[in-house]
Amino acid sequence: MQAIDALVTRRSATTLTEPAPDAGALELIFASAVRAPDHGRLRPWRFLVVRGEARARFGELLAGHLARTQPAATPESLQRERDKAFRAPLIIVVAAHVNEAIKKIPPIEQSLSAGVAAGNIMLAALALGYNAMWKTGGAAYDPQVRQSLGLGPSDAIVGFLYVGTEDGEASTLPRPSWREHTRVWDGR
Ligand SMILES: Cc1cc2nc3c(=O)[nH]c(=O)nc-3n(C[C@H](O)[C@H](O)[C@H](O)COP(=O)(O)O)c2cc1C
Repeated sequence: MQAIDALVTRRSATTLTEPAPDAGALELIFASAVRAPDHGRLRPWRFLVVRGEARARFGELLAGHLARTQPAATPESLQRERDKAFRAPLIIVVAAHVNEAIKKIPPIEQSLSAGVAAGNIMLAALALGYNAMWKTGGAAYDPQVRQSLGLGPSDAIVGFLYVGTEDGEASTLPRPSWREHTRVWDGR
């Protein structure tokens, strides 16, 4: 697939299944991620690869977050959280390592770079014949989840990217016209 085809057809997967990107595809996916624009060459990206049995432990983190924040959560809703970890064969956690001491490069620029890296991962996956979904939810902002993933207080999770092979119908979400979001500014 040409890069432009991936860019103009990107959509989230509705359902994902095996196979996950193989080692060669992952190499290209992460090589794309680290091409994200990066003010000051801070390399503010952190990527965690979660697959196989580790997904069960990841699901426990999601369920643990729900149990802590909603003590009345039912066993069914806790199980739904655990099951989320199995909606794709591979999860890539993308975090921004934000160094607030660098005044020249504000935190938002560091987070944006990680966001672009996440976008590149999604586009690379699509270009290679896979697809992905970008999720966050409260667990992404939970310090205990962050710590359990081995991330520090300066790391902000920007996404849980679920990656695999698209299964079933492609998304039919209506797409906006770029014209509605764009205007020419000529200074007058
Ligand atoms: C930072 C970020 C976090 C998101 N978190 C969620 C989420 O937790 N749950 C969800 O259903 N969609 C989430 N989305 C939106 C979906 O990933 C998706 O982009 C949206 O449903 C539109 O579908 P599309 O990707 O096919 O255009 C998130 C998107 C971004 C950029």
